[in-house]
Amino acid sequence: MLKPRQAVVQMAPYSPPTGKREDKVRLDFNEHTVGCSPKVIEFLRENLTAARLTMYPEYTEAMPELAAFFGVSTDEVMLTNGTDEAIQVLVNTFVDAGDDVVLLKPSYAMYRFYVDVAGGIVREVEYTLAEDLTFPLAAVRAAIRKDTRLVMIANPNNPTGTGVELDDLRRVLESAPGAAVLVDEAYFEFSGKTTLPWIREYPNLFVSRTFSKVYGMAAMRCGCLFSSAENIRWTHKAQSPYSVNMLAALAARAAVRDREHVEKWVSEVLAARELVCDGLRKLGIKFFKSEANFVLFQAGERAIPIRDALRERGVLVRDRSYEIPGCVRVTIGTREQMRRFLEELETVWTR
Ligand SMILES: Cc1ncc(COP(=O)(O)O)c(C=O)c1O
Repeated sequence: MLKPRQAVVQMAPYSPPTGKREDKVRLDFNEHTVGCSPKVIEFLRENLTAARLTMYPEYTEAMPELAAFFGVSTDEVMLTNGTDEAIQVLVNTFVDAGDDVVLLKPSYAMYRFYVDVAGGIVREVEYTLAEDLTFPLAAVRAAIRKDTRLVMIANPNNPTGTGVELDDLRRVLESAPGAAVLVDEAYFEFSGKTTLPWIREYPNLFVSRTFSKVYGMAAMRCGCLFSSAENIRWTHKAQSPYSVNMLAALAARAAVRDREHVEKWVSEVLAARELVCDGLRKLGIKFFKSEANFVLFQAGERAIPIRDALRERGVLVRDRSYEIPGCVRVTIGTREQMRRFLEELETVWTR
């Protein structure tokens, strides 16, 4: 029998539910619920040739285009295989076995996943119900030590949906001069709050963005990691050279060209989020203030039965009661989809 590394033996398995989702209303993974810009598909069709597939991917056209879109220079950005790879590369760059890492709880599961694989020591600061799941600034600052190597914060946070004030992030950055601080802005477009322009001000800041959410390309696995040119030189050393495939690099270029598609989606989601919040209020269901394309609500002891009953009716939502008692998370799609969600929820809630 082969024996894996101790760090792997000790990890809790992470298995998000997958499969049989295609014919459902998918409000369980915070994806786009309709689709990416048709211009992305068109661009892929035009550029997909057998000759291109023979070559390892080249990023010489994508990099300047993406850097210009994000307002950085090409040496301040790294293209990644989704945010997940950005997290992995950061961990590989900064965290040795036994190193200290500060995370929030609950937050995006892959932070802990990669630190666990590396054998780093995770200390978690909790978002509490008593504070309405708002960012626990004082506790985060208190948790950061001189030997802390990495801090990872999602803004807005998943699964709480709550946003972090920019001033609070400044204070975290200033409390952690010796640590790499990742601000994961996967849902930035829905909140409008970003620390991206600060990469020239704070030498410990890393910012990530993704094409999986507002751009509707989760299947492509494409994201960006930003920091000072000096930091990006280090992270490049820890990244495999062809981890972003050619189709993803093409799709990202076409996606940023169609700003209108993104703007329209953001306004649709924000209107639909209002609708959902009103609907939850009418049903007397408590929810948390969201700055993202999802809302976390309290179903109490009925969290799992409600999720299951909705699934039977063709609507997928995500149970989060294992990390916040009684909570269920619903992704926001179009107003039409959310009316359907509210109708089904009312039926299962009031029966
Ligand atoms: C906070 C956060 N970061 C990153 C991701 C994943 O991003 P990607 O698809 O780019 O790996 C998610 C997905 O749910 C998320 O919630």
